Amino acid sequence: MNNQIRIISILADGAFHSGEELGKTLGISRTSVWMAIKKLSAYGLDLHSVRGKGYRFAHAVELLDSTKILKGIDTTIRTKIAKLDVFLQRESTNAYLMGSMSPDVDKSNVCFAEMQTAGRGRRGRLWVSPFGGNIYVSILRHFSSDPQTLGGLGLALSVAIIRVLTELGISDVKLKWPNDVIWQKRKLAGTLVEMVAESTGPCRVVMGIGLNVDLSGAMSDKIDQPWVDLKTILGEVPSRNQLASTLLQQLFITIAQFEQSGLSALADEWRQYDAYSGSQVSLSLPKKNISGICEGIDDMGAILVRAADGNIQKFTSGEISMRG
Ligand code: BTN
Repeated sequence: MNNQIRIISILADGAFHSGEELGKTLGISRTSVWMAIKKLSAYGLDLHSVRGKGYRFAHAVELLDSTKILKGIDTTIRTKIAKLDVFLQRESTNAYLMGSMSPDVDKSNVCFAEMQTAGRGRRGRLWVSPFGGNIYVSILRHFSSDPQTLGGLGLALSVAIIRVLTELGISDVKLKWPNDVIWQKRKLAGTLVEMVAESTGPCRVVMGIGLNVDLSGAMSDKIDQPWVDLKTILGEVPSRNQLASTLLQQLFITIAQFEQSGLSALADEWRQYDAYSGSQVSLSLPKKNISGICEGIDDMGAILVRAADGNIQKFTSGEISMRG
């Protein structure tokens, strides 16, 4: 762990800590403390420095805690988790789990990070991941089903997020195919499923979820699309540990449903929140654009587009946008 991260975890309590105290705790010089503090703005944290008092964050940060998260999950689901890690910093929780040891069959490894230095979004985009404000979580497990049938898994994860938001009393949430959770046309959460299909045996799958909880720090201006966070919607920041438990619980329930019956068991729920069904859309594919009326999704999670000639085509990839 580098000095910046260690300082962040001390300052998370929102109280003042002098340079001398930080130096002593970490076993480094006051100059090293000062240099580390100077770099902290890169984490998007609002840091105050007051002469004679020291440093503190503008507000306390509730750091994620694996014991608290596990405590908030039903025992039956907890037994399905082989390992749950909370890291202060990872390049990407998806990348980390992709390269980690596999859990036993029927079990999952879970990884949260307080920040990601190279958070992955869909289509090679960066998922802006400042420290301590949001949820970045990935789950690694094996699926015995054919990789072709896993196409709808990202949509299933979106259903899990919707259920959590509903529990929080949030309405007005919509889903944008394939995996965006939006609120009043602004992105609130996204999911990224990555998999390695073994030639023999089960498919190794990493399911990543990014949920904006409090994005008000300096890095939010790096996001290249309209966004929103739970703090804005709810008027306050919910407990991140409670939220992490609720989300994990719902993800495990939904993944089990998906594993048993595929997306068909969840497709109608997804359709209830479809932001684009019935609208004139444009679907951008690598080599061409398709225009037509969006007819929603099929039971495998493919998007259906009705062209001007009345023919309905289905697509399993691409980027959808509203036309006119
Ligand atoms: C998207 O909507 O573009 C997908 C965003 C997925 C972001 C999450 S954050 C946790 C996990 N780790 C990553 O690197 N990406 C996913």
